[in-house]
Amino acid sequence: MPDSRELISRNVLPEDETAEVSLRPLVLSEYIGQERIKHNLGVYIEAARQRQDAVDHILLSGPPGLGKTTLAHIIANELGVGIRITSGPAIERSGDLVAILTNLEDRDVLFIDEIHRLNHQAEEALYPAMEDFSFDWIAGKGPAARTYRLKLPRFTLVAATTRSGMLTSPLRDRFGIAFRLDFYSVSELFEVVLRSAKILGVSIDGQGAMEIAKRARGTPRIANRLLRRVRDYAQVKGDGTIDRDVACESLASMDIDSEGLDGLDRMILSAIINNYDGGPVGLSTLAACVSEDPGTIEDVYEPYLLQMGFLERTPRGRMATQKAIEYVLGGIPKRKGLFDNP
Ligand code: ADE
Repeated sequence: MPDSRELISRNVLPEDETAEVSLRPLVLSEYIGQERIKHNLGVYIEAARQRQDAVDHILLSGPPGLGKTTLAHIIANELGVGIRITSGPAIERSGDLVAILTNLEDRDVLFIDEIHRLNHQAEEALYPAMEDFSFDWIAGKGPAARTYRLKLPRFTLVAATTRSGMLTSPLRDRFGIAFRLDFYSVSELFEVVLRSAKILGVSIDGQGAMEIAKRARGTPRIANRLLRRVRDYAQVKGDGTIDRDVACESLASMDIDSEGLDGLDRMILSAIINNYDGGPVGLSTLAACVSEDPGTIEDVYEPYLLQMGFLERTPRGRMATQKAIEYVLGGIPKRKGLFDNP
């Protein structure tokens, strides 16, 4: 059986996420935004705590950076239990899963990120674990193979996905609780920026914080990343305080425009408009055109462009909206015939 420590990656985080950890709220009351989720989660956690029971399994879906991992930590923290963290692609075989599950303690949270990338064998092994807290372990091969039913501790699976549509229905049906995280409003991000600045000891005024919030693509992780970069800029080019001018200069130097779009967002929109007459164009063609991975475009770039009304997904491919054309062409009148309704 593999060692569960190899499968549970606590310390191998990219730089962005390492910096993010210190800014993570640890309790629900400190978590900004996602009001409905917070309210319901608070009730479910309190009910489980009163019954000394594990909370039902929870599926968190939504674009990256909105706080799925943070919520998983908060759930464990509020329940006063441990958390084990792994991800779909890290679990290669059902044996990997048994190593993790048998190391859990009663009522622990198991967090599986990118659950949509879990392989079929591991997914099937997860079903009895989720339903009956048991695991069917097959030892040996061929006629000598034996099945052992292992009893597992009660646990709560908190699974995160950026692609809930890719989950099979048997897996989705086994979650008693499912939440979809939405993009944050500018005022919520404004609060996130002020909170993070306070933790980091950064001096910032309201207009500086608002400028960062407006350009953070509805995403706290991006707001915190921009805050750290603007802080660097303020320290080197200014007197260390983030005001509106420093924030604008610094964000412009990062090629982030007033709508929060970066160079690749604009390349995606220009490619659709200039190379494909506004679309429709298929995802893989578009990805090749801007030299980016189709999965990254679909998971990271498109959700915000859709939300902002710059992009449409149609059965025949991606289309730029009239708003995108005006934005990219900077007010240049649209070409005759293009996008006109007949
Ligand atoms: N940092 C990142 N996401 C946050 C959130 N939702 N609330 C407070 N701080 C955060």
